[in-house]
Amino acid sequence: MNVHFHSYDAVIVGAGGAGLRAAIEVAGSVRTAVLTKLYPTRSHTGAAQGGMCAALANVEEDYWEWHAFDTVKGSDYLGDQPAIDIMCREAIDAVIDLEHMGMAFSRTPQGRIDQRRFGGHTRNHGEAPVRRSCYAADRTGHMILQTLYQQCVAKEVNFFNEFQVFDVLFEGEGKDRRTAGVVAYELETGDLHVFTSKGVLFATGGYGKMFRVSSNAHTLTGDGPGLLFKRGIPMQDLEFYQFHPTGIYGFGILLSEAARGEGGILRNGLGERFMERVAPTVKDLAPRDMVSRAIHAEIKEGRGAGPSKDYIYLDLTHLPPEQIDAKLPDITDFARTYLGIEPKKDPIPIQPTAHYAMGGIPTNVHGEVVIDGEGTIVPGLYAAGECACVSVHGANRLGTNSLLDIVVFGRRGGRAMADYVTSVDHPTIGRGAEEPVKARIEELKAGSGTEKVAEIRSTLQEAMTRDASVVRTEESLLDSLATIEDLKKRYTQIKIDDKSDVFNYDLTEALELGHLLDLAHGLVVGALARKESRGAHWRDDFPTRDDKNWMKHTLAHLEDDGSIRLDYKPVIGGKYEPMERKY
Ligand code: FUM
Repeated sequence: MNVHFHSYDAVIVGAGGAGLRAAIEVAGSVRTAVLTKLYPTRSHTGAAQGGMCAALANVEEDYWEWHAFDTVKGSDYLGDQPAIDIMCREAIDAVIDLEHMGMAFSRTPQGRIDQRRFGGHTRNHGEAPVRRSCYAADRTGHMILQTLYQQCVAKEVNFFNEFQVFDVLFEGEGKDRRTAGVVAYELETGDLHVFTSKGVLFATGGYGKMFRVSSNAHTLTGDGPGLLFKRGIPMQDLEFYQFHPTGIYGFGILLSEAARGEGGILRNGLGERFMERVAPTVKDLAPRDMVSRAIHAEIKEGRGAGPSKDYIYLDLTHLPPEQIDAKLPDITDFARTYLGIEPKKDPIPIQPTAHYAMGGIPTNVHGEVVIDGEGTIVPGLYAAGECACVSVHGANRLGTNSLLDIVVFGRRGGRAMADYVTSVDHPTIGRGAEEPVKARIEELKAGSGTEKVAEIRSTLQEAMTRDASVVRTEESLLDSLATIEDLKKRYTQIKIDDKSDVFNYDLTEALELGHLLDLAHGLVVGALARKESRGAHWRDDFPTRDDKNWMKHTLAHLEDDGSIRLDYKPVIGGKYEPMERKY
């Protein structure tokens, strides 16, 4: 196995929106490498559809403080309010910044950036839905990704495409521990690359592939959180996983909430607009946790549609065809392609789909990774985007706050890392740093185990979708825990068939599965312990929020023996006192 050595000031792992935005911030000032297991423009930011919110007030009255209130309430009061204030205040600049980079936003007839409604975003603390989401038809993430990538190209960012990071390097022990770089595997050759660097920023996205029905691409395997979990960094709030209400039935592919922002309606098998009962003020534009639960209830109570009464309809048939073509071209094409349905004439079968991790690598508002409730950082280690937990989304993210999050905190993390790396010496770690990764690869290739990666992965996905999704109980979570513990044992006996060096996905998928198993384990153990219902974590056996005992963030630690240990840290409050969440 060939090994190559590189020396940079900063390394960014992941080239989605957060990674690219961070790269723009550091490029030119410090020597930076961006590593991605894909090609940058294939990153999952490109699949984000409906928009990026900011209180621009381009089409109706709005203020960043209203946005912050909605985000706090949407988070079911688990979001940290100072971080939420920063995100909502900086949102306005972040949109203008993108516009100045050339982002092709959809426009009002007057030529201003247009804005549409989205779930949980309201005027004046809940009076009615507000138009806050800036968008580019229903391909906003795609346009943001292209815009950021073009800027990176213009700034001559060093990309290492199809380089998958297999380890993160530290030097020093205890309080003196600092980040020293990463070890990456080059997919085209099977060579290893050691990147020594003073700073490393993880922006590797989510881990939705632990669920069978998911809007996430095959690549969303929690690589950054998984690697750091193994290296002793705790993961925050893993039990809060978001289910988007409108995945294409049977596939999970995302049909944007923008469809409801444009006037689409959810109907049960009887044709009833059931969200009127659940959220009388905002109706179909309630936050995702509530809508997904309402869909679950309709189906459970026998009011689903179809032969098995196991889906709900997204009805766009009353919208003007020209509005559908202009504002929702991609998702209506998805319905045609995957279901053979013409959305202008027929309602679209949908079901909730695993969509977004609210939890992840704990960070402060500068993107620095923090490892405890005292805010202790690991010098040189940063995270941004879905893999990070700032925490601006708390127990439930509002739609369009994720594209915002990646841009705001990608920029902040990049800036903080650029400052840090100019103030410290280069790490001394060097040759030999790749040995543990090399040994693991050789062990996998030589292994005589009997277990198949694909079988373990699909058993995990089935169990998580069945037992740890929209609605959970102690019984269902214990079932999923037993499955995960068994799968972790089986994982020690995996066998890969492909022994080659060229695009060996058999090997990379084996390592990715390890991340999924550990993160699912953390999710389920955290969910079992949290005996309350809050945001996306709904326990049928504890159906109320319990602020007295559970207004706190979970920190899950992966122990050396593979078990999960939990501790907690306080939520950072602000001016909004917790109240009942009604819409
Ligand atoms: O529905 C959507 O377009 C998804 C947006 C988001 O997750 O923020």
